[in-house]
Amino acid sequence: MKNLNKALFFGLFALIVVVEIFVHLHDQQTISKLRTSLQEFRQLAEDTPNSAAHKISEFSNQKIHQVFEFFNSDADDSQQQTDVDYEVPMELLASETQFLETRQCESEKNVFFLKTSKTGSQTLMAIMQRFGIQNNLTFFLGESMNGAMSNLQMPITYERDCWIGKNIPEEKFQISTQHLKYNKEVIDNVMEPGTKFFSIIRDPTTNFVSSYRYYQYLLGRLWSQFGLREIGETKGASSELLYKEMEHFLEDEKRAWRYLKNVSPASFARIGTLRPQLIFFGSFTDVNGKEWMSYDRDIPEEVLQAWFKKLDADFEFVMIMEYYDLGLALLVNEFCWSIEDVAYLKVNAQAHSGLELSKKAVRNLEKINYPDYALYRYFNETFWEKVDSIGRAKVEAIAELIGTKSAEIAQRCIQDEYLNNNGTQKIKPRLKEGVYEDAECGRFLMHGPSMTKVTQRYMIDHFGKKYKSCSRSATPTTWSENMEKNKESLRYKYKFLSGHGGRFT
Ligand SMILES: *[C@@H]1O[C@H](CO)[C@@H](O)[C@H](O)[C@H]1NC(C)=O
Ligand SMILES: *[C@@H]1O[C@H](CO)[C@@H](O)[C@H](O)[C@H]1NC(C)=O
Ligand SMILES: *[C@@H]1O[C@H](CO)[C@@H](O)[C@H](O)[C@H]1NC(C)=O
Repeated sequence: MKNLNKALFFGLFALIVVVEIFVHLHDQQTISKLRTSLQEFRQLAEDTPNSAAHKISEFSNQKIHQVFEFFNSDADDSQQQTDVDYEVPMELLASETQFLETRQCESEKNVFFLKTSKTGSQTLMAIMQRFGIQNNLTFFLGESMNGAMSNLQMPITYERDCWIGKNIPEEKFQISTQHLKYNKEVIDNVMEPGTKFFSIIRDPTTNFVSSYRYYQYLLGRLWSQFGLREIGETKGASSELLYKEMEHFLEDEKRAWRYLKNVSPASFARIGTLRPQLIFFGSFTDVNGKEWMSYDRDIPEEVLQAWFKKLDADFEFVMIMEYYDLGLALLVNEFCWSIEDVAYLKVNAQAHSGLELSKKAVRNLEKINYPDYALYRYFNETFWEKVDSIGRAKVEAIAELIGTKSAEIAQRCIQDEYLNNNGTQKIKPRLKEGVYEDAECGRFLMHGPSMTKVTQRYMIDHFGKKYKSCSRSATPTTWSENMEKNKESLRYKYKFLSGHGGRFT
């Protein structure tokens, strides 16, 4: 048994290492094959409780999760935002432009962005990273390929989690933008005093659908119970099949809970489906000292309201994905950031499946995930209160300026082939000829893990000799090897992106 354990463990470890190496070669076919074997291992582990595979999987769950996240974090999830057409008069735009140019305020440099999932947060993360690099700020980052922390269902803690610079507690961070589950105590401790908090959420129905479709390869523990597809078919299911599964899951509330009960709270099959938004907001301790988790089945309404009130006190505002540009306008207004700071590359809408959940399925989803719906209602209200307190016309004018500036930068920097695409083809955005030495263009284009690695290397260099890795394994992890092996190119990229010369590579 012991030998089997060892063999399995080394097999898995080797697999993860190989996977991580291949990720850098960008060989899609190999990646997809490796991903399938990793998924099969995981499935085997989940389907045979108490087996060696099961134990190893539990142990390396976090690692596997990081690898999976890494595979997918390049994809942008903002395509489903609604475009609102504002009718902003020219005079207002002119006066707002003048106001922004002449206002007397200092831009906020200490910002904690609680990244949620399938909410357009990838674009926001890129905006934050760009701002941090341009302003030479310090980043709060996990020691993993995608920089995420507290990957499981639990809020971030000192005991469980690891980040760059954890061994130097007197050093405080200025920007936080990676995935983690909120824990005010830890965030207050690691970030600069007076750091401003914000986040983003989305309509819980479309969020659930988006999460189910996107993370289907991680939800095997759930859909394998439905009996609608083969265990091996972990991804690439047709939209029809995915909707069939969601309909089945949501057909009967009591049965849905039975399905959920068979899945461990740490499994992504639950994290990605059971209140997939509230889970990022950590936990809440009520007046009786009871700690509530997002996945507790019956959270009383008054507990939820008290929880939201507390979040409302901690956070400056919570953006609503359906009003994306208005939310960015709040950022400009509240943090005294410039229009250029929040300009972003619009991502082409993906082909819509044309399918929708039935009314009955939505009703049951509203019952199962009622805390997410309550969260959305609460922060939709505070969002509009904030907008109205500033003045709706003013916020719309700023939003319009953001849209215009974004289009302007895109025209200057990004190849027409991408900009003119009507969404029928999958085209990667690339820089135009002749702008490779333009740092603004480089920053505008760069997204995701490649940007994260640049900031990770920067932070390791920032701490210099004082830095000690807190990764658990005794031998160097693939992440730290990657940081070492690619240090010259990562430093070059940072220098270029921060506007100190060089060219986009
Ligand atoms: C960036 O900040 C560090 C301190 O955190 C400082 O030593 C360095 O000189 C700054 N670099 C630039 C280009 O401003
Ligand atoms: C969000 O707030 C707006 C403005 O008050 C309102 O029109 C809309 O119906 C709200 N949406 C939800 C889901 O509560
Ligand atoms: C999208 O663009 C392609 C190629 O340019 C074209 O063939 C197709 O008809 C367009 N589709 C729509 C819906 O406009």
